[in-house]
Amino acid sequence: MRKTVIAGNWKLNNTSKEAIELVTLLKRDLLDITEVDIVVCPVSTVLADVRDVLTESNIKIGAQNLFWEDKGAFTGEISAPLLKDAGAEYVIIGHSERRQYFGETNETVNKKIKAALVHGLSPIVCVGENLEQRETDKAFDVIETQCRESLAGFTAAEMKKIIIAYEPIWAIGTGKTASPDQAQEIHQFIRGLLVEMHDQELADSITIQYGGSVKPENIKDLIAQKDIDGALVGGASLKRDSFVAIVTGAC
Ligand code: PGA
Repeated sequence: MRKTVIAGNWKLNNTSKEAIELVTLLKRDLLDITEVDIVVCPVSTVLADVRDVLTESNIKIGAQNLFWEDKGAFTGEISAPLLKDAGAEYVIIGHSERRQYFGETNETVNKKIKAALVHGLSPIVCVGENLEQRETDKAFDVIETQCRESLAGFTAAEMKKIIIAYEPIWAIGTGKTASPDQAQEIHQFIRGLLVEMHDQELADSITIQYGGSVKPENIKDLIAQKDIDGALVGGASLKRDSFVAIVTGAC
């Protein structure tokens, strides 16, 4: 059985005070949830504060990025051992905003996944097409290249630690969600690629999240799809009520 994982991607939001307030409430509200795995991904500077609140909680912590080297002369970067030290168990890799604004490529994503796995962090690897690619029928090609290149060279055991997040760029922060059918079509395609790259058993074991304007109103229809195993939630993860409603809606 695949795990359903709901992860909140806070992006560049929440001071330490705001982060502590939010996770204190989430910890209480989501106390009884065992059906889905819950992850919050704050900015790196507040990871340790969030960890201190979430000890003995069912809510796990993720980071939003990492560098592939462990340490050294890499000013401004943060590494897997440091993220672990601050309480992270997951790390988002290759988010479209990082690909768009910070020059991430499938090759750097691949290196980052490797570094995360070496240090026991579970990577949440993002793939997704932009509007022009969708409108010109290139979505499948784009996703295939992203998956094959980003996920190249990992063993089946390593792959089992990876979560894939399908996030159509045209649906991120736009209020425009992919329809459940549109999302399912791509999720099924990604699972098919995993069969080609490995085998059916492995493909069936991998959690594939959907991301892009996930809200309390659409989570149930998305999660009801055969190949949608959770959500990567941006804007709606910043508010206690909407994140709690999304998590409970996925149960
Ligand atoms: P959104 O962001 O939910 O605000 O659309 C999702 C994401 O970028 O992970």
